[in-house]
Amino acid sequence: MISFRDWMSQKVKEYYRSDFRRDFFTAPELDKAFGYTLADYMVQLIRHLPNPTLLELGGGSGALAYDILSYLKKKEPKVYQRVNYLIYDFSTELIELQRSRLRDFEGKVLWIDSLPPIRGVIFSNEFFDCLPVHVIREGKELFIRGKEEVWTEISDPRIESVLRRMGYEGLKQTVEVCLDCVDFLKVISESLIDGYHIVIDYGYLSHEISRFPHGTVVGYKAHRLHNRPEEGMDITAHVNFSLLQEYGREFGLREVFFGNLRDFLLSSPVFLEELEKLSFSQLPEDIERLSRLKTVLISMGERFRVLVQEKL
Ligand SMILES: C[S@@+](CC[C@H](N)C(=O)[O-])C[C@H]1O[C@@H](n2cnc3c(N)ncnc32)[C@H](O)[C@@H]1O
Repeated sequence: MISFRDWMSQKVKEYYRSDFRRDFFTAPELDKAFGYTLADYMVQLIRHLPNPTLLELGGGSGALAYDILSYLKKKEPKVYQRVNYLIYDFSTELIELQRSRLRDFEGKVLWIDSLPPIRGVIFSNEFFDCLPVHVIREGKELFIRGKEEVWTEISDPRIESVLRRMGYEGLKQTVEVCLDCVDFLKVISESLIDGYHIVIDYGYLSHEISRFPHGTVVGYKAHRLHNRPEEGMDITAHVNFSLLQEYGREFGLREVFFGNLRDFLLSSPVFLEELEKLSFSQLPEDIERLSRLKTVLISMGERFRVLVQEKL
């Protein structure tokens, strides 16, 4: 019998390390305007640094890195010259894909297997939602035995402490506790000598928990959503941003922005410029891009949240 957390951890690793079938669409896969917007936002944060580092957690197909580096090279050549780009990822298969996608930027990008001390920005899109969660319901924790679900004693006293800090005590519904998110946030804060942390992901705040009475864990297969994750699926859990805010404060990370992805994108001059350019174009590829951007704004805009924290 293993905890759901260990089961999810195992399945996520198997999924990303296996013959990867790309069951997910992410915002950077949909359109380059996402990466351009993030690049422009990060330039404002790192421009003053002599040798800034951009550290991406979970590089996926390399699409986001490609768009960020392309933007910097073209629009911010002085920053581009000084910047180091690091990717942290556990999937050797995806690292191979990233290397081939990023061959135009040879020498600029390095792959790392632990987070070094850096000055700059550590950022991720759809990374935290891959981190495994403990599933809790009314004082019991979910374990898996074969195909059976077993609810039993809570395995780690830290879970109880998170439940208290999130105000989840006594709730009569399923909740998830991501201790891995807390641990990773600590690693991020220790790695940042000077700079910022940006998380973009599906997520919610603790007070919104009643919107998810059965929890937020889902599996994706062939772009379809499944509420009962099984073998061979991309398993994710929405990110509890209250957890990142609360523990961030403890780890010396001061919040400088929190909002939904739609507002974040629409407040960027770079994103608005792309939208405007595409809206006036009759070219079929631009019309298609515009429709993909609408997908980003409509289907991800509300559900995705953006948190920016500054290391004190
Ligand atoms: C859904 S993909 C997102 C990719 C990319 N950020 C994007 O937006 O297109 C998740 C990425 O995180 C990586 N990943 C997931 N869990 C990880 C972990 N615990 N440690 C390191 N990398 C992880 C996966 O290998 C994959 O590259």
